[in-house]
Amino acid sequence: MARNFQAGALRQQMARVLQAAGSSADEARQVADNLVMANLSGHDSHGIGMIPRYVESRLEGGLQPNTGMKVTFDGGAMLAIDGQHGYGQVVGVQAIELAMERAAQHGSCIMALGNAHHLGRIGHFAEMAVARGLVAVHFVNVLSRPVVAPWGGSDGRFGTNPCCIGIPLPGREPFVLDFATSRVAQGKMRVAHNEGRRVPDGYLIDEHGRPTTDPGVVVVPQSNGLLGALLPFGEHKGYGMAIACELLGGALSGGGTWHRQPDMRREVLNGMVTILIDPQRLGTGAAFEQEAGAFVDWLMQSPPAEGFDRLRIAGDPEREARAKREREGIVVDDHTWAEIVTAGKKVGLTDLPA
Ligand SMILES: NC(=O)c1ccc[n+]([C@@H]2O[C@H](COP(=O)([O-])OP(=O)(O)OC[C@H]3O[C@@H](n4cnc5c(N)ncnc54)[C@H](O)[C@@H]3O)[C@@H](O)[C@H]2O)c1
Repeated sequence: MARNFQAGALRQQMARVLQAAGSSADEARQVADNLVMANLSGHDSHGIGMIPRYVESRLEGGLQPNTGMKVTFDGGAMLAIDGQHGYGQVVGVQAIELAMERAAQHGSCIMALGNAHHLGRIGHFAEMAVARGLVAVHFVNVLSRPVVAPWGGSDGRFGTNPCCIGIPLPGREPFVLDFATSRVAQGKMRVAHNEGRRVPDGYLIDEHGRPTTDPGVVVVPQSNGLLGALLPFGEHKGYGMAIACELLGGALSGGGTWHRQPDMRREVLNGMVTILIDPQRLGTGAAFEQEAGAFVDWLMQSPPAEGFDRLRIAGDPEREARAKREREGIVVDDHTWAEIVTAGKKVGLTDLPA
């Protein structure tokens, strides 16, 4: 069985949990809105199911509620920012807003953000930028648990390191490519495990480095106390992209890379290097609009292959999911809901419907 919530009701309930966990009413609302937007967008892995993890991180002293960003270097069109372990949904938005201001002034901005607590769906930041007509490129690393194995390796050495590119398109919805460099997001394995599902071949290796379809190997410690690992997408190419995210999102951001044995800490930190470009200030604005529009028109004329109802560009699936889930509600599986109820109780909120 599962529950179905309208987005508004879910936002309200989740904000109560976050407030009980120490956030101001404003912060709780902002984080809850962001998480519910991830569910609406079809990415349950980065939606309200993250709340138990946030509560645990908060209780351990990792996540710092009501903490804003701190600018540590200001070179005008180049910014270095410390997220100070604040909610990524808050410090990430503050950092992108400042970077967008600078891109408006200078035509572009390179922004390095370190030590943000989990930034959630990276596409959220690209959507903010494309709404202002900016191109946005984000390289992100994850400091939490090394859940992804290197190409040719047999244990986890780094995180699911997402990469995201947003491009505004004239007269149509933007291109927003936003993906984990693992074959799938770790959160999707949590959801699959909670729902008791197996996953396709090629996603995972177990705690001995052998292929498996059991998502539990990356969710709960196995018999030898170790976890399995996700595999990178696209073999050596996706692996290379993941390492670029670690070197840029981790090292260049100043937030740090992963190079220690795994532990059971619940904190999830993200580092992110963002590049914003105003196409109208690059001297190629008119050609960009003409050529981007002409290319996407041409692209969309490819006849759909068997098994596809129509062609899409990145960003379309999220927009379709939003329209559907706004209408039909958001389904939350029992396991995820029970974890949220338990998390609420840990911070003194006892009246969430069990
Ligand atoms: N903060 C973190 O630490 C962290 C870590 C990993 C992932 N994430 C987030 O997890 C989310 C999910 O990542 P994922 O790898 O599971 O995503 P995914 O595999 O679902 O891929 C999503 C991307 O593919 C595009 N896409 C999907 N179907 C398409 C189609 N038919 N045609 C064209 N484009 C299509 C989507 O528009 C989107 O850009 C992302 O929002 C990512 O930012 C965050």
